[in-house]
Amino acid sequence: MAGTSRPPQTADVFDEAVRGTCDDASLCKRYAISVGYWKDPYIEYFVRQPKERKAPEISRGYYARVQGVSNLLEAFLKKTECNCQIINLGAGMDTLFWKLKDENLLPRKYFEVDFPSIVARKIHNIKAKPPLSKPIMESHSGESLLIDAHSLDSSRYAIIGADLRDLPKLEEHLKKCNMDPHLPTVLVAECVLIYLTQEHSAGLLKWAAGIFPSAMFINYEQVNMADRFGQIMIENLQSRQCNLIGVEHCRSLETQKDRFLQNGWETATAIDMVKVYASLPPTDVKRIEALEFLDEKELLEQLMQHYCLCWATKDSCNLGLTEITL
Ligand SMILES: C[S@@+](CC[C@H](N)C(=O)[O-])C[C@H]1O[C@@H](n2cnc3c(N)ncnc32)[C@H](O)[C@@H]1O
Repeated sequence: MAGTSRPPQTADVFDEAVRGTCDDASLCKRYAISVGYWKDPYIEYFVRQPKERKAPEISRGYYARVQGVSNLLEAFLKKTECNCQIINLGAGMDTLFWKLKDENLLPRKYFEVDFPSIVARKIHNIKAKPPLSKPIMESHSGESLLIDAHSLDSSRYAIIGADLRDLPKLEEHLKKCNMDPHLPTVLVAECVLIYLTQEHSAGLLKWAAGIFPSAMFINYEQVNMADRFGQIMIENLQSRQCNLIGVEHCRSLETQKDRFLQNGWETATAIDMVKVYASLPPTDVKRIEALEFLDEKELLEQLMQHYCLCWATKDSCNLGLTEITL
């Protein structure tokens, strides 16, 4: 696929462009939330309201993504009775910690990892804004909470500045924040693996399968990228210096699943977002479809055919993780 045939960029320019995708995701989420697709009282503390409106198909796509990931996560939390940990890889400005706290669904510990400069911004906002810091303090017990420019470690929430391509350091950071490999663990990656080379993403999945005996990995990202529409998506990002270097794994639902099965995971399921959207409760879909007029139904369909949810499990302790489904 063309994503791999661009002239090489310097690593710094590439990493900077990848970090920029964090803002894109948060701005799209903030816009969709402001229109009423779903509720999130915390995102406004991380990202300003975008000046220009976003197309309804983008907001509907984000709605399906947020609901799909959240349904899988909640199924895992239910199965393990929250006696588990969540590791959100490339979390950006995600507000999931606060949502779970409000819903009384916090796992034993919730970890986030992103590049140090992204983490520094997140921590700066948390420090400056009591609606963000208060829930962290409330859920904290025991020794004093550790917080510096590039990391935060409280008893229920840790934010780690690290590079997902450096696995020994990643593991070291997580362990320093009391990550317990023997707890059932759910790892989440939303639009992250595609920014890693095939070797790096395979290495990450293999590392996770090796260290956690009972685990689920939820991956949301592009799929069916070998067709014309996929090519345009690749070119759009390339024009902003953002090369989708992991796009080979996004060729089909099969390649998405195979990456897990070849790297130590026991089961893998992948469905495109057309199916995820169709699985949402009809009353919710009716509500969000009434929010904005959508002219380009075909475009929405095409967009949703080019994103998928893939989840994989390893269930050495027979917790029933393989039964988890949307
Ligand atoms: C498209 S954004 C998605 C952010 C978030 N998961 C969401 O859905 O809102 C991709 C995120 O992955 C992070 N990321 C990509 N490669 C990374 C790496 N090698 N190490 C750490 N973080 C990385 C970026 O900094 C960015 O925050």
